[in-house]
Amino acid sequence: MNMNLITNQIITDWKPHYPSLFGNHSLALTHNLAASSLFTDEALARLIEKSPREGYHVNYSQKTPGNPPKRREGEIKGLSGLEVLDTVRNGNIWVNITAPAKVDSAYGDLLDTIYAEFEERVPGFKSYKRNLTILISSPNVSVKYHSDVPGQSLWQVRGTKKLYVYPASKPFISQPALEKLILGQLRETDMPYEPWYDDYAQVHMLEAGKMLHWPLNGPHRVVNENMLNVSFTTEHWTNELRKHYAVNYANGFLRSKLGMNKLSQQVTGASYLAKLATAAAVKFTPLNPQKQKVYKVDFQVDPKAPEGVRDIEGYSFSK
Ligand SMILES: [Fe+2]
Repeated sequence: MNMNLITNQIITDWKPHYPSLFGNHSLALTHNLAASSLFTDEALARLIEKSPREGYHVNYSQKTPGNPPKRREGEIKGLSGLEVLDTVRNGNIWVNITAPAKVDSAYGDLLDTIYAEFEERVPGFKSYKRNLTILISSPNVSVKYHSDVPGQSLWQVRGTKKLYVYPASKPFISQPALEKLILGQLRETDMPYEPWYDDYAQVHMLEAGKMLHWPLNGPHRVVNENMLNVSFTTEHWTNELRKHYAVNYANGFLRSKLGMNKLSQQVTGASYLAKLATAAAVKFTPLNPQKQKVYKVDFQVDPKAPEGVRDIEGYSFSK
């Protein structure tokens, strides 16, 4: 093995049997990024200040036990990055920097290095359309039960959070719910959830220096411990993930537009090829609802307001 890989590895506890688990089961790993200069207060403050409007979200959810209610969308104006960080530290909000690589290529380099390492270690794993987003969140903040469309990992850099991961099958995610999610007809956070689902969840205490990669579309929710949390997500596509996406996209389309039922999830054969063609045709027509999302902003981050949230007159932006 290349000596460089051994000494500079990001994942520090990789084992020979992990390739068989990667993507098929939740895999909790240890990484060396908790001490990285890319996630200090100064680095995060700079990212907050330099991110354009379409490069961040700031959200608020009322504090309730269990699954939180719908989140609100806010804006950052007239504050330094360090002031925003202090507001997150003392308030009840989370900031998601969605395109840090566009502000500083070092985050893009990190993303490439991470995936190069996995591709080196997992035979046949070849990823593309990768993305890295940074989450800076208040003590005790929760993220509602949801599934994501691409392959997902969550990396904990500072603080501790509890991550609940549920099986990627019904009843935790139904076939129609998955299709709606892929068609963009279901907001990620509007998935049906019952408290008893927790009895079937894998619960991971993600401490700084830990990460988790879980199976495609696996529902999950997150609860921060009582301190500022800094995490990042990585997401990716592979040919295999894209096949599942195409089949579910076409099935969702056939089911919702043509009232067809009894649709198979097979990714080979004639019906699969017909579905691929359907997915390709539909995606490039105005029927595709995933083109633009509209966000309604109704608060501004304010260090002096309760929970760091000051109500403002609502307005919308789309991206
Ligand atoms: Fe997620």
